[in-house]
Amino acid sequence: MTAVPEGGPGLPQRRTLVTEIPGPASRELSARRAGAVARGVSTVLPVFVTAAGGGVLVDVDGNSLIDFGSGIAVTGVGNAAPRVSSRVAAQAAQFTHTCFMVAPYEGYVEVCESLARLTPGTHEKRSALFNSGAEAVENAVKIARHATGRSAVVAFDHAYHGRTNLTMALTAKNMPYKQGFGPFAAEIYRVPMAYPLRWPDGPDACRAEALGVVKSLIHSQVGESNVAAIIIEPIQGEGGFIVPPKGFLPGLAKFCADNGIVFIADEIQSGFCRTGDWFACSHEGVVPDLITTGKAIADGLPLAGVTGRAALMDAVHPGGLGGTYGGNPVACAAALGAIETMVAEDLAGRARRIGEIMLPRLRKLAEQFPVIADVRGRGAMIAVELTHPGTLEPDAAATAAVAAACHKAGLVVLTCGTFGNVLRFLPPMVIGEDLLEEGLGILEDAFGTL
Ligand SMILES: Cc1ncc(COP(=O)(O)O)c(C=O)c1O
Repeated sequence: MTAVPEGGPGLPQRRTLVTEIPGPASRELSARRAGAVARGVSTVLPVFVTAAGGGVLVDVDGNSLIDFGSGIAVTGVGNAAPRVSSRVAAQAAQFTHTCFMVAPYEGYVEVCESLARLTPGTHEKRSALFNSGAEAVENAVKIARHATGRSAVVAFDHAYHGRTNLTMALTAKNMPYKQGFGPFAAEIYRVPMAYPLRWPDGPDACRAEALGVVKSLIHSQVGESNVAAIIIEPIQGEGGFIVPPKGFLPGLAKFCADNGIVFIADEIQSGFCRTGDWFACSHEGVVPDLITTGKAIADGLPLAGVTGRAALMDAVHPGGLGGTYGGNPVACAAALGAIETMVAEDLAGRARRIGEIMLPRLRKLAEQFPVIADVRGRGAMIAVELTHPGTLEPDAAATAAVAAACHKAGLVVLTCGTFGNVLRFLPPMVIGEDLLEEGLGILEDAFGTL
């Protein structure tokens, strides 16, 4: 192993390849891993990381890779961001755990105050903190069911809400998330997503028809008065960075309000500046009843939250929500450091700038390579969908080939989509423009290898 540099934004912000990817030290660790780690836990790019910061990941072989993944939309403020690292170190030196349900501490309250301030809407709010996004979604459903006395929950095609039993039921895609893991939780109903590229008669029809189709299915197959909650990702993440047409989310929120249904926005992937605003709902002024947050909230420490209308949140009896570790003090310290960074460095503005740089370049690339059927997303949450040219037939093989070429050249990109044919780009919001442009150049070259 080469000398290990210190992580954080001081790392040289450049791509450096000193071995093939993955290099020999990473390959050796992969062999060890195979004998110790369950194969169900898979890996996109088997380089073992020793340091990370800004827009780069440094591996055990001394390679420095450009990061367009942020650990799946987590390290938006940059890995080992100074305000996060210093608060985490200070908190860890004071106490690491009491259990908020046994003896509380200020950090938890401060995170909940921040969530009340930053999430959409000026109404009175309450929050509860958990360890993972899936746990937050489970609790949002618990709260909605308890507050309404209803049981049905409506989720969308292409949705991803996690890997626990209830969230697997909410998640749409079978392989790899659900295959062989049933039976799943009951009373989950699925409706079509407003997916402009794949709506039967195209994007204009999608804009005109999608809301009506959803409302009609709920009316005829579930009954509005049985529905506790509708849960939606304002921009779908794992399902393929699907951006619904303008008007769909506000229409859905109004339908919920008109029928006493709790509108849950799952902003675990799209939240905390990623789309160029604090939350993706805000682009259309949508105010959810409950909002789930996670991922970027704490720069990688395990923390997630449910925030919502005080009357809904407080409907649950004392002791009905919680968990041993939820809102751990070190994770709360990380969240306060991450939020402070987002404000101080205007990361929503940085995300918008990233979108302004990426979208035109990707649209140009789509003109050059007809395998790109769609370029979409907002801010620093951008994707391209690949199909066999001139058709909507997904091209997962080309998607995998482009991703592999990027990885080989030292650019971390992720794929997603129900059909495995979407390349998604989630650079840290703090990435430098030179590095961003260099990454885009690598991507362009990767398309050239098809
Ligand atoms: C929209 C959304 N909801 C929920 C989850 C689950 O979060 P976690 O992996 O922290 O359980 C994810 C994770 O990718 C997500 O993108």
